[in-house]
Amino acid sequence: MQKVKGTQDILPGESEIWQSIEQVLQDICRIYHFKEIRLPSIEYTEIFTRSIGEETDIVTKEMYSFTSGGGKSITLRPEGTAGIARCYSENKIYGKESVSRWYYIGPMFRAERPQKGRQRQFHQFGIELIGSDSPYSDAEIILLNMDVFRKLGLKNLKLRINSVGNAHCRPQYVSALQDYFKDKTEKLCEQCKIRFEKNILRMLDCKNPSCQEVLNSAPGIIEYLDEDSRQHFNRVIASLSGIDYTVDNRLVRGLDYYTRTVFEITSSDLGGQDALAGGGRYDNLIQAFSGKSIPAVGSAIGLERLIIALTASGNLPEIKECCDFYIAYFEDKQALRAFETQKSLRSQGYSVRMNEGNKKIGNQLKEADRLGARFAVVIGDEELESGLFTLKNLKTGVQNTSVDMNFIIEAINNAPV
Ligand code: HAM
Repeated sequence: MQKVKGTQDILPGESEIWQSIEQVLQDICRIYHFKEIRLPSIEYTEIFTRSIGEETDIVTKEMYSFTSGGGKSITLRPEGTAGIARCYSENKIYGKESVSRWYYIGPMFRAERPQKGRQRQFHQFGIELIGSDSPYSDAEIILLNMDVFRKLGLKNLKLRINSVGNAHCRPQYVSALQDYFKDKTEKLCEQCKIRFEKNILRMLDCKNPSCQEVLNSAPGIIEYLDEDSRQHFNRVIASLSGIDYTVDNRLVRGLDYYTRTVFEITSSDLGGQDALAGGGRYDNLIQAFSGKSIPAVGSAIGLERLIIALTASGNLPEIKECCDFYIAYFEDKQALRAFETQKSLRSQGYSVRMNEGNKKIGNQLKEADRLGARFAVVIGDEELESGLFTLKNLKTGVQNTSVDMNFIIEAINNAPV
């Protein structure tokens, strides 16, 4: 039996790396005052089709959907923002707080062709700031992402940023693109021929060389932005001082809900799948669910890709095996005393392991080393009779015989970690 293609087992030893990264994410969210939200991994399919866009790759090709007993179509979430908008509207959060700042860490599912950095189940760290259309909110989202990467030691990053305008100015840009491409469709790839009909903006980030050539002279969106979008974009840019960025007129992103700011952060420590994070503003999405016009902006980092980049750049957090005590004993008749000692030390908050099974004393001490135990408590016949212990400091090798529990506690409390 094998795991489903494109999924990954995260084993003990690896999960500690995840926990350590998640701790960094939580610390940064505390500083930026984002609160954790936990949402279902399944939603009704229309939550995604309505928000991500009927013609996007995610909706047309990549969703895991099934029909439930009641005949309604349900989908494993391919991303987090649609569920956030549904939850925000369903719980009428707009009536409770003026600005909501939420973060989530969890699995997402996309039926993509698996390769390095592209999985069918992957994890995202997402942040969503709902209720503000201030350009500083966009900047905050970008800064939070950059702080995560800085804190984890990642360097070779590229931030690309663009504005895709709003519902007023985008139609004019779309019609300019249609005019430009209408007599050039022959030169486009098959995908872009379809995009020309259905979702022309998506043509802008096609990687096909023949499309690229045609794209080189295509009109740029910046020239079509209305005054409001232009000013907003300029203020976002102005608040990114100290951060390296490139304005990329071709950046459109693969989800249709974006308005105004969009951005992507890539890492040259990744392979072909080099997008580490992406996000942007989605000022019309909440309205689609609640009827209330509420602006929002957010982003998500792919955690598997983050780990690939940290590994490639030598920045993976170092995890040391560690436990406070290992209780060793010679014969089965001392096992109960060892078990009671383990229980007593654990009740005082120490992490403790003991010999499980019937290993020889030498192998028990080897196991203690492997577990990173700081001290071994050894129980033999003499200790069983006296009610005392032998204590061995496994870091220094110093051994004390006939010691009581108070001595043991004092020894570990005074020993350097
Ligand atoms: P996205 O660009 O589709 O945006 O995904 C964000 C990140 O998730 C990507 O940059 C990548 O690191 C990771 N990712 C995506 N697909 C895969 C995959 N198949 N395997 C591994 N990693 C993957 C969103 O999902 C938006 N919801 C972000 C957002 C939040 N926008 C506003 N708020």
